[in-house]
Amino acid sequence: MANRLEGKVAAVTGGDQGIGRAIVERLAAEGADVALCYRSNKAGADEVAAAVQKTGRKAAAVQCDVGKVAEGQRFVDEAVRLLGRIDILVNNAGLERRADFWDVTEPDYDAVLDVNLKGPFFLTQAFVKHRMQAKSGGKVINISSVHEELPFPHFASYCASKGGIKMLTRNLSIELAPLGITINSIAPGAIETPINKKLLNDPVKLKSLLENIPLKRLGKPEDVASVAAFLASSDADYVTGTTYFVDGGLTWNYEEQ
Ligand SMILES: NC(=O)c1ccc[n+]([C@@H]2O[C@H](COP(=O)([O-])OP(=O)(O)OC[C@H]3O[C@@H](n4cnc5c(N)ncnc54)[C@H](O)[C@@H]3O)[C@@H](O)[C@H]2O)c1
Repeated sequence: MANRLEGKVAAVTGGDQGIGRAIVERLAAEGADVALCYRSNKAGADEVAAAVQKTGRKAAAVQCDVGKVAEGQRFVDEAVRLLGRIDILVNNAGLERRADFWDVTEPDYDAVLDVNLKGPFFLTQAFVKHRMQAKSGGKVINISSVHEELPFPHFASYCASKGGIKMLTRNLSIELAPLGITINSIAPGAIETPINKKLLNDPVKLKSLLENIPLKRLGKPEDVASVAAFLASSDADYVTGTTYFVDGGLTWNYEEQ
């Protein structure tokens, strides 16, 4: 494994399972110390932190609800207190709620938008203030979704949140460039994680999804983590304001029979 992140410190939201966990482990394997936050899965978060510490890197697990602005700010403060500073912020925590558009409730809309869009917005703001104080640049990586681009019927609030992340990434790439801060998104397709539990347990739906994926397999959390490590490293110093699709070709799949 390359040591591209030696001496760096990363903060990853939702690092207790799924894609976030793979990102924490990959960044640490490339040399970074990592702070991760989790909403309720303390056992998972402690396990990830312990696995990182075993490799000789520092790790800290912090409980926080990123949908609440003050808690996101507290995560950034705690990460800085425990690990000295943060060079890399990964906004990974996210959730989705299925409903026909006409049945979407305000609490469900708020839950999705608060965690997927408002959280990353204000966490990034706290990170930027920290980097300004440190008088140094940094890297922000947002875990978006192919649904920043592709419609997903019955998931309107999710699509709105990820579409918002796409434009936030583009906008901040311009505003943060003078500070030496780059910001990019990763848009995963169908990745094998707990968020897709229902789909993974439905052989008919799973088969039809796989038929739509040109590479003919689901993605693994590690497929996303390797791109995150690239974007976090100096190999991506000239990359900002863009989205990397990690989807096995799903998004632009079109074939005439
Ligand atoms: N798995 C996929 O197919 C897929 C596809 C596209 C995008 N994504 C995105 O990837 C990201 C990670 O998803 P995943 O598949 O690993 O899902 P997951 O359900 O396994 O993990 C979600 C993570 O978000 C955290 N989280 C949720 N609400 C939170 C809150 N209020 N405060 C703090 N943390 C909170 C959880 O602790 C958990 O670690 C999400 O942003 C999701 O939208 C996933």
